[in-house]
Amino acid sequence: MRRKIIAGNWKMNKTPSETVTLINELKPLVATEDADVVFCVPAISLTTAIEAAKGSNINIGAENMYFEENGAFTGEIAPNMLTDIGVKYVIIGHSERREYFAETDETVNKKVLKAFEHGITPIVCCGESLAQREQGVTIDFIRTQIKIAFVNVTAEQAKTAVIAYEPIWAIGTGKVATTEQAQEVCAAIRVCISEIYDEATAAAIRIQYGGSVSAASAAELFSQPDIDGGLVGGASLKPDFGKIVNYK
Ligand code: PGA
Repeated sequence: MRRKIIAGNWKMNKTPSETVTLINELKPLVATEDADVVFCVPAISLTTAIEAAKGSNINIGAENMYFEENGAFTGEIAPNMLTDIGVKYVIIGHSERREYFAETDETVNKKVLKAFEHGITPIVCCGESLAQREQGVTIDFIRTQIKIAFVNVTAEQAKTAVIAYEPIWAIGTGKVATTEQAQEVCAAIRVCISEIYDEATAAAIRIQYGGSVSAASAAELFSQPDIDGGLVGGASLKPDFGKIVNYK
């Protein structure tokens, strides 16, 4: 039985001081023993967030990380900077990073490998555009994203990975995918993982759905056989996130 994982993606929201306030507000609301809870916050607030979340069930994750160890990469964050302060998760290849910051399947793969090298769990994002869905190429496109993201990743590493399926047309639009659409793609991702590796790896890897998840849609989405939780943007900044975490 896979353990659910419900992660908030704060994106570029909340100052460090606002982070303390929000974590203190959400702490009692997201308390659960039934799922892993992760708050992915802006880099500048990571240390503050880790401090604020101490003693609670909240894990802190980063929203991005670079694939080199150190050096002349102005503005980037190295993996050991994250592990040094206790960051356990990192979102890799979010569609906003792909769209606005020129991330590609190849850089996603480099970052995934680097995260594993440092013992950080990557939340690997994939998802099709509206045009791709309408052209009927969703599954082919997602399979390509997944295959490239996992090049040279071992089965043992892949078992611990988290994949977030986030249709781009559902992100921040209030247009949540139907349960059938979300389940169909998450199941296809699991088949793809079983083809790259084996059944055991496919059975272990956790696959989230993301894109306008709300307190109203969480229960139905998260009870699908291949959906192991969610990556939540807008609603993760509100008390509603407590309802999403305790969706049952
Ligand atoms: P949303 O964002 O829940 O605001 O649609 C999800 C995400 O981008 O991770």
